[in-house]
Amino acid sequence: MEEPVGKAVLKIIAGDITTQDTEAIVNAANSGLMGGGGVDGAIHRAGGPRILEECKEIRARQGKLPTGKAVITGGGRLKARYVIHTVGPVWSGGNRGEDELLRSAYLSSLSLAKERGIRSISFPSISTGVYGFPMHRAARIALRTVRDFISTNTGFDEVRFVLFGDHALKEFLSAWEEITTVPG
Ligand code: APR
Repeated sequence: MEEPVGKAVLKIIAGDITTQDTEAIVNAANSGLMGGGGVDGAIHRAGGPRILEECKEIRARQGKLPTGKAVITGGGRLKARYVIHTVGPVWSGGNRGEDELLRSAYLSSLSLAKERGIRSISFPSISTGVYGFPMHRAARIALRTVRDFISTNTGFDEVRFVLFGDHALKEFLSAWEEITTVPG
């Protein structure tokens, strides 16, 4: 799916985040910033050791990265020039501020990209793997947050959601239908 939003285009595709050619890709990291499984592991494997070195420098400078915040490193050997590392919430039933923290992870990443003049960015579906956030609920939050941000912040050419597998793709496409047809 590809649709204009403000001055940008929003794309929802199935694929692997590590091979994207947007200026930045977003990593679903953890507060330790030392790598892990899922998207995090894949990005560090594909991008090489330079990314971890930069993460260690950030860690030494500012300590752990709180949930909902974001930091930026170079992309190492990736096509993307930058990696924005953010930490989504661990799902624990939905009454512990998970929705707001997930929103904040997307917003922090977008704000950092904007600050750096980055014009194209790819997101994975943050928190919906190891962290257990229900996919449909996460998709609605992700899409609404990105849509609202790029409607008013005009520095972006493209925001891409890169979903791993058909199930995630379907959930994002149906969530997009819902938020574009149902107001609020
Ligand atoms: N490209 C795109 N999406 C991917 C890829 C990939 N290469 N690999 C996995 N995914 C998908 C998963 O299927 C899931 O839907 O990304 C989504 C997020 O999953 P996780 O990577 O597990 O991220 P998250 O749920 O936010 O958990 C973060 O996992 O690996 C650790 O260090 C990471 O501790 C942190 C935790």
